[in-house]
Amino acid sequence: MDNVKIAIDGFSSCGKSTLAKQLAAKLGFLYIDTGAMYRAITLYALRNNIMYRDGTPDVEMLREHIKNIKVSFQRMPNGNMHTLLNGEDVEKNIRTVSVSRHVSAISKIDFVRAEMVDLQRNLAKDFSVVMDGRDIGTVVFPDAQLKIFVTASPEVRAQRRYDELIAKGEEDVSFEEIFENLKARDKADSERTIAPLRKADDAILLDNSDMTIEQQFETALKLVQDLPAYKQLIQK
Ligand code: DC
Repeated sequence: MDNVKIAIDGFSSCGKSTLAKQLAAKLGFLYIDTGAMYRAITLYALRNNIMYRDGTPDVEMLREHIKNIKVSFQRMPNGNMHTLLNGEDVEKNIRTVSVSRHVSAISKIDFVRAEMVDLQRNLAKDFSVVMDGRDIGTVVFPDAQLKIFVTASPEVRAQRRYDELIAKGEEDVSFEEIFENLKARDKADSERTIAPLRKADDAILLDNSDMTIEQQFETALKLVQDLPAYKQLIQK
C-alpha cells in the first residue's frame, strides 16, 4: 500500500506550517518543515563566515562544507519537531530576522537544493508525510496524492509574522522591515531559476486571507479525507 504524501507549498508566512503541523498531528503522519532545512544551512553559513558583508554567500566555500553539514529533526516530548544542525538543537536560532534575511540567497544554490531534496525524499521513504515548502508539489513529490498551494495577501502575512516575532520576544523588529523582507523573499522565491515557487498545475489553491486557522484546517482535512489513497490507507 502506498504511503500518502501531502505537499503544502506557498509564500512566506502564509500559514502553511501551521496547517501542515495540524494535519500531521491529526492524521498521525510525519511532519517535515523544509524551510527549516534551508534556514539551518543559512545559520551554518552565517556562523562560519561563509557570508560576505553584502549578504551574498561564498558559494565555493559552502560547496566545500556542504557534506559536513547535517540537518536532522528530533521529536520533542510535547510532539513538536525541532531542527538539529550537526546534532545541536537550533530550532530557535533559525527563526531570527538575520536568518530570514539571508535564506533566499542560500536556498537558490543548486547543490544546496540537491542535498535537501535528497534528504526530504529519504525522510519520507517509509512514512506518510505532510511536507511544507516551496517546491514540494512541483519538484520533491510531483506524485503527491494531495497538493495544496496556500496563499494570503502580503499585508496579512506580514502582520501575522510580526505578531509571531513580538510574541516570541524579538525586540528589534518593525512591521515595515518584516513587510519588506517578505516581499523581497516572495520575489526571490518565485523568480529564482532553480525550483521557483509556483503552484503545481494539479494543486488546490487555498487563500486564507479571510479564514481562521480552524477554517483553514477543516477545509484541508476534508480534502485529505476525500482522497482515495487516504481511504485505502486507513482501511489497512
Ligand atoms: O518556509 P520558510 O519561510 O521557513 O522558508 C525559508 C526560506 O527557504 C524561504 O525564503 C524559501 C526557502 N525554501 C525553499 O526555497 N524551498 C523550500 N522547499 C522551502 C523553503
